[in-house]
Amino acid sequence: MCGIVGYVGKRSACDILVSGLRRLEYRGYDSAGVALLTQGGGLEVVKQTGKVAALEARLSETVAAEARAGACAGIAHTRWATHGLPTEANAHPHLADGGRLALVHNGIIENYAALRRQLEARGCVFVSQTDTEVLAHLVATFDAGDLLAAVSQALKRVEGTYGVAVVSTRYPGQLVVARRGSPLVIGLGEGETIVASDVSAIVSHTRQVVYLQDGDVARVAAGGAQIYTLDQAVVDREVSCVEWEIGAAEKSGYEHFMLKEIFEQPAALQNAIRGRLDPVLGTALLSGLNLGPRELASIRRLVIVACGTSLHAGMVGKYLFEGLADMPTDPEQAAEFRYCNPILGADDLVVAISQSGETADTLAAVREGIQKGALVAGLCNVVGSTIAREAGRGVYLHAGPEIGVASTKAFTAQVTVLLMMALKLGRCRRLSREAGLTLCEEIAALPGKVEAVLAQNDAIAAVAAKYAGAENAFFIGRGILYPTALEGALKLKEISYIHAEGYQAAELKHGPIALLDERMPVIALLNDIPGKEKTLGNVQECRARRAPVLGLVTEDDEEAARMVCDTIRLPRTSAYTAPVVTAVALQLLSYHVARLRGCEIDQPRNLAKSVTVE
Ligand code: G6P
Repeated sequence: MCGIVGYVGKRSACDILVSGLRRLEYRGYDSAGVALLTQGGGLEVVKQTGKVAALEARLSETVAAEARAGACAGIAHTRWATHGLPTEANAHPHLADGGRLALVHNGIIENYAALRRQLEARGCVFVSQTDTEVLAHLVATFDAGDLLAAVSQALKRVEGTYGVAVVSTRYPGQLVVARRGSPLVIGLGEGETIVASDVSAIVSHTRQVVYLQDGDVARVAAGGAQIYTLDQAVVDREVSCVEWEIGAAEKSGYEHFMLKEIFEQPAALQNAIRGRLDPVLGTALLSGLNLGPRELASIRRLVIVACGTSLHAGMVGKYLFEGLADMPTDPEQAAEFRYCNPILGADDLVVAISQSGETADTLAAVREGIQKGALVAGLCNVVGSTIAREAGRGVYLHAGPEIGVASTKAFTAQVTVLLMMALKLGRCRRLSREAGLTLCEEIAALPGKVEAVLAQNDAIAAVAAKYAGAENAFFIGRGILYPTALEGALKLKEISYIHAEGYQAAELKHGPIALLDERMPVIALLNDIPGKEKTLGNVQECRARRAPVLGLVTEDDEEAARMVCDTIRLPRTSAYTAPVVTAVALQLLSYHVARLRGCEIDQPRNLAKSVTVE
């Protein structure tokens, strides 16, 4: 979604802001802009629709090289349109105070219409359709000699969510930033400070960061930042050290982040598993859950809340928890959950799955769970993210930063962590030590099995070429492979724009079969696990309607291979680990189809990496 970068220091703010925006490109956006406080005491604002490269070109054309080089403070933004089209006028920064004050904003101001009417009545002239412009004028209205006080006053009148950064020519050498519901991080460098909505824009400058918390507002200068509440009380926030290397946010020779992240999966799973399997008791050690065997044994139901790919991982989780731990499990789309007045009690465990840990609906579901007295655990990849912090207990994926908008390694790490959770819960119930030990071995073998899938990359690329011209596709799977079919369809539509749907194999007959003909490929998940024979029956039904069938089959399963038009071969696994290897093959399939269709794989149209608005 939208991205924010701010800089104050000795170097060229322009260069740092633009390179920061590039680091945030992966989040998805449709326009970009910069405001620079120039040495002469002015404000240079440049906005542009489209990519950051276009903004950079525009900056070179319109702002003199000396002015660009001399500006040592400024703010910048990439916008993902919510209120108003992705036009230059709607792009941030938004201006007020006769062009002296500039503001960038992530999130949504819910009472913007009422505020806009009030401000218009007082003579403010609006030039955009955004909710953000209201905030810029509101801050200017409250400015009585202290920018931080003005921002605080304005934010007190605002309903909704925000991460904001503000500069004004009246206050050279300072930025004011604040957050509520939309992340903001302050990077503390040597004689310079960089703020951003995401650490990836900061790590090339400094590892020392402060994560702002909801309700914080900060005055940022070259020497550091002072943080306050909106009532101007000083607050202390700890300085953290970002652990990941800058290389983790670079493509390292791969054509796309998505491909790099697909290939990182053996290592990502190794990291997710490391130190978490107990080869003596045949269980998993997940200390972050902070629940002992007695507490685990008293849980009566799991409710999994998540969105998108993470929801599909949660749907796999239902089969894992019910199969291994006899634990009734309800996966729920987080937005539906939060508005359905869910029935929850003290013996329910709500598991929130979120790669980013910032998805607005999943966060709201966490809060609802806490409010209703349930136990709540977060399953997040981003350390220190809001969901991880608010849930208070959980398991980190340790999959490393995921930059590609289409989630890949996070999904397989989520399923692997859910598998370990199911093992742990199962061992507090009816799962035997022997069965637990077998599962430990299967989990430990997963990185190697994923390697075996990646070794098929060329073969998968060749198959992809046969299907890349399709305009529609069905994915079918049964049992634990059904959510994997949904995830396969989601990957394909996200990055190749082919209309794709996932179905339970048995459901095909109840309607979707009407669409089958030679132009409707069916991707059938035919791993040699219980249920395969039935799915093979469904494959026959598809072929009888002339649909081309691509089968994902276990490597030595010639019977299944004979029944389909094309195959992708998968290593043999148990049912519980099948979703991981199958998902990796489907990721590669979607990747190659999208590449052949010339799509923008890492930044698919209209999508955002982290959806921080409802
Ligand atoms: C967006 C992303 C998806 C992701 C979903 C949930 O829609 O494009 O890839 O699965 O958000 O994100 P989360 O960070 O909560 O897992």
